Amino acid sequence: MSTQKSIKLSDYVEYPFLIPSIYLDFDIGTDYVVVQSSMIIKPKKKESSKLVLKGNQIKLLSISINGKELKLPEYSISDKGLIIHSPPGSEFELKIRSLIDPFRNTSLEGLYLSSGMLTTQCEAEGFRRICFHPDRPDVLSRYTVRIEADRTLYPILLSNGNEKYSGNLNSNNLRHEFIWEDPFPKPCYLFALVAGKLNSVSDTYITNTGRLIDIRIYVEKGDEKYTKHAVNSLIKAMKWDEENYGLEYDLDEYKIVAVRHFNMGAMENKGLNIFNSKLVLADSKTATDDELERIESVIAHEYFHNWTGNRITCRDWFQLSLKEGLTVFRDQSFTSDLHSKGLKRIEDVSFLRNFQFAEDKGPTSHAVKPKEYVAIDNFYTTTIYEKGAELIRMLELLLGKEKFFRGINLYIRTFDGSAATTEDFINSLIKGAYLEEKNCPFDLDKFLNWYYKSGTPKVYINQSWDSKNSILNVSFEQKIDSEKTSENTEMVIPILYSCYSREKGASPIAEDNLFILDKNKKNLKIHTLPGEKEAPVLSLFRRFSSPVVWESDLLIDDYLFLFLNDNDYFSRWDSGQYLMREILKTRLCNKANYSLEDRFINAIKQTIKSLEINDPFFLATLIAIPGFAELESLFTKVDPIRIYRESIDFQVLIGNEILQELRIISKNLLVNIDHQWPMGRGERKLLGTIWFYLSLAGDIDVQKNCVESISHSSMTISRAALGALKPLDNTLTEEASNLFYNLWKENPVVLDSWFAYEASRPHKRGINVIEKLLSHPKFDWKAPNAIRAVLGGFSKNIDLFHSLDGQGYLFMADKLIEVDKINPITASRMVKVFSKWKTYINKNKEGMYESLLKLNKANISSNTREVVELILN
Ligand code: PHE
Ligand code: ZN
Repeated sequence: MSTQKSIKLSDYVEYPFLIPSIYLDFDIGTDYVVVQSSMIIKPKKKESSKLVLKGNQIKLLSISINGKELKLPEYSISDKGLIIHSPPGSEFELKIRSLIDPFRNTSLEGLYLSSGMLTTQCEAEGFRRICFHPDRPDVLSRYTVRIEADRTLYPILLSNGNEKYSGNLNSNNLRHEFIWEDPFPKPCYLFALVAGKLNSVSDTYITNTGRLIDIRIYVEKGDEKYTKHAVNSLIKAMKWDEENYGLEYDLDEYKIVAVRHFNMGAMENKGLNIFNSKLVLADSKTATDDELERIESVIAHEYFHNWTGNRITCRDWFQLSLKEGLTVFRDQSFTSDLHSKGLKRIEDVSFLRNFQFAEDKGPTSHAVKPKEYVAIDNFYTTTIYEKGAELIRMLELLLGKEKFFRGINLYIRTFDGSAATTEDFINSLIKGAYLEEKNCPFDLDKFLNWYYKSGTPKVYINQSWDSKNSILNVSFEQKIDSEKTSENTEMVIPILYSCYSREKGASPIAEDNLFILDKNKKNLKIHTLPGEKEAPVLSLFRRFSSPVVWESDLLIDDYLFLFLNDNDYFSRWDSGQYLMREILKTRLCNKANYSLEDRFINAIKQTIKSLEINDPFFLATLIAIPGFAELESLFTKVDPIRIYRESIDFQVLIGNEILQELRIISKNLLVNIDHQWPMGRGERKLLGTIWFYLSLAGDIDVQKNCVESISHSSMTISRAALGALKPLDNTLTEEASNLFYNLWKENPVVLDSWFAYEASRPHKRGINVIEKLLSHPKFDWKAPNAIRAVLGGFSKNIDLFHSLDGQGYLFMADKLIEVDKINPITASRMVKVFSKWKTYINKNKEGMYESLLKLNKANISSNTREVVELILN
């Protein structure tokens, strides 16, 4: 465990005071900002208790209670905050004047400067950098905010809620003020303020009860043209939440501000979302189809938080998945309703396997509901978010849609306006669904293990065929696959299954059935059609019905059958993925299975013939190999360089074998690629995949065509062309990259994708390539997007990053130490590139270890230290 002090769930105690209202006054100067807060504070109990307020890098100017100034030692102050030793026993007003310096704040937490504008980020614990406050999510208050500033430097002054007043301050018109009022009590992490020179684009939305909502997107001058997609996405999200959850927007205004310097994706501040600019500014010329879909889903995600997160918030940060897991589940359902359910499921599963499963296997593995942490910022993880969403999805499946929504309704009615726990959520859900807990058809306590235990459960499946009675007997066994627990934990694992008759082929014998594996071992009897001679082919975990890994006695023939015939998108795709994993595994163990490879290639050819361009997105997905992290997870001694080379070789083989087929379909695709997203998206995706395979197979015409396509009007096509040229060691790649750079050098959002491309290109030799990118005139050290582009891209440059002399690792460590000095949150997230060190072959393992030691010896932030120590231990 960590050498640093941790916060424990079991130590939770209620805050002894209520703070029903807060008035905040910001006086923005040229060197600093004076913040004055007036809080109405009510002790919860008669017995007096001291008033503890957090504060970080705030200079206290004065403090008074009910108008009377406090003097030391009536209060004490430290670098952690302020304590008032004996506050009044009944309601009082606490006024604090203080001073903060946003202009030198590089952490991107609290109030800070981004491209000349002032902006805030308070989640999780940034509010304590703005004013003295308990800074915990279970203290909810009504906020009124006054901001005054220079009119020309800061013409736009925004905060949460509705605008109450605006006007000039003095006769010469130099300064002005705005007053904002948010009628809904909220925790301070949802507070936001923005001041600067911004232009806005507006639209309106009429809710189902006829209320008019004013929508406004604020951007830097010149970026207005890139906001249409965000506005459309928001309107779709508002409508979807009304139609599906019966939830309506509650304020009169909804504002989104795009900010270049931002640690995360976006933030759901009440009525004033703040977004990383790359998740707002986009059209089909500047963003790929995948990025457009992602933006649509993040806009929706932040909007959905208005109910799941804001109106009902978290009691403490251990409940983080209460808002995040549920809101990810909601945004996934939204995307899946708007586009394709089957394809969205594949996309989400692939993400989960490559990132969440990898996290759960490694040193930073933790439960969806952890019991302790050092720095909460380190817990914004794919386990809290995506695994959290999987748990809600299992509940939806176990309860059925109708009951599930009854449960959600009860949860919202019960906890609206308060701070809840994940147990509150589950209890409401069950009560709403079944009225009484005892009617719940599965063991709730065992289900709750999903929240409390870390690690990915593993399920073993064995079949035996009773030909006399035409019954397939299937035995299931579950084990929790975690280094941290050796105990025998039983989970509730919902398994959707179906099966296919070999003789009759393509249609399943039965529709999806649900089997609930809630014991360590459990058997299932499947009655097939009478007279069935052969055992049917079993299709398991359809729709990926639970976030587990499994091992079964299905045969290669069965997988080939499912790859060609399964009517569940996920299961069909997964069968192909299984076969490809097998092929790569055997290749990497030096015993390539050529007959399997042949049969698989033939299956691909058949798939191409049957799907052709009728379902181009699915076809492209079916023929793409598993992600790198997933491949790494197949081995106990990981050799990243070999895995990379072998996967390229295998793709060269695929490309060569299916050249003819790909050339034919690529011609038929061209008619649809110019349609506007989401139309034409499948065709563009498939074309990109075809280019990749053909280019890899050495098709010079395709390679040249890729260079020409860099200036295509669709960013999807342009980036597909870059992608197809990327693995090649030839001058065309260089040419394409330069073309792309010259087209986009003035657009920082697009340019980040070029930085990532350059940093990850396999044939860029030598670490100085990365050094050059970091000192490139267009590179901005203060923008996490840029850092992630170059250092993140570098970590995917397998030969360079994993070079056996360890130089790649040391370089990364040095750079992360630098990043940590200016931005600990970004550094501690990136340090996880070293997470898997113990699983690597010795050379890589030693190199990574040395770099981790270097990080550990350096003077790093407690955020980064927590992660480094977890990884080392
Ligand atoms: N709460 C944000 C979201 O998921 C993420 C976030 C966390 C942003 C912390 C900034 C800081 O929508
Ligand atoms: Zn969220």
